[in-house]
Amino acid sequence: MVSGAAIEIRNVTQAFRGGGRDLPVLDDITLTARPGEFVALIGPSGSGKSTLIRLLAGLDTPLFGTVHVDGDRITGPDPSRALVFQDPTLLPWRTVRDNVAIGPQARRQRPGPAESGPRIDEALDLVGLTDFAGAWPAQLSGGMAQRAALARALVNDPSVLLLSLIHSCRVSCSGCGSNADSPPCSSPMTSTRPSSWPTAS
Ligand SMILES: Nc1ncnc2c1ncn2[C@@H]1O[C@H](COP(=O)(O)OP(=O)(O)O)[C@@H](O)[C@H]1O
Ligand SMILES: [Mg+2]
Repeated sequence: MVSGAAIEIRNVTQAFRGGGRDLPVLDDITLTARPGEFVALIGPSGSGKSTLIRLLAGLDTPLFGTVHVDGDRITGPDPSRALVFQDPTLLPWRTVRDNVAIGPQARRQRPGPAESGPRIDEALDLVGLTDFAGAWPAQLSGGMAQRAALARALVNDPSVLLLSLIHSCRVSCSGCGSNADSPPCSSPMTSTRPSSWPTAS
């Protein structure tokens, strides 16, 4: 379903102003990803993972540096780059199926049921929620709600899928130390190449 796109992050620096001082978060980050490549950013809570993802989503612009997708500089959000937030943000008054249908609606595509129906069914099947299509968000477990949010992103057939996932800081920080690859919990993400590996297919 996801065909992929080339991502090019060049010398990106990002900082936030808070409490009367600048908080450096990303320091000269350079990272490329080929179409179809799966890249995981691993780091302690507060190290800048979501900040980088927000730049790729086009929700923020970097202080310095550039972010390109398929050669085009990112200037704002685009449906071709889907972001799945840590919080599933499902609408409680809509069923799972109708929440997934928000995907095409958000693209201002209002195809009839004949057009959008199979795509929604396919997305629900991909995340294993076919049997819960008629369920309300309150009837889902946390993981199922996350999968519904994933289906809502997949239904738009994005070329870039950005997943902002909760990862236990305790687990991440258990590796923080003299021989750790990751920076200490209080440090900004400064590595020029976060851990990445291509998918098998
Ligand atoms: N909009 C913002 N304004 C001010 N500070 C921010 C903003 N967004 C993130 N930060 C700060 O940037 C740092 C990195 O945050 P974030 O990228 O969310 O970390 P991570 O996703 O790795 O846990 C944190 O110290 C956070 O407080
Ligand atoms: Mg985060």
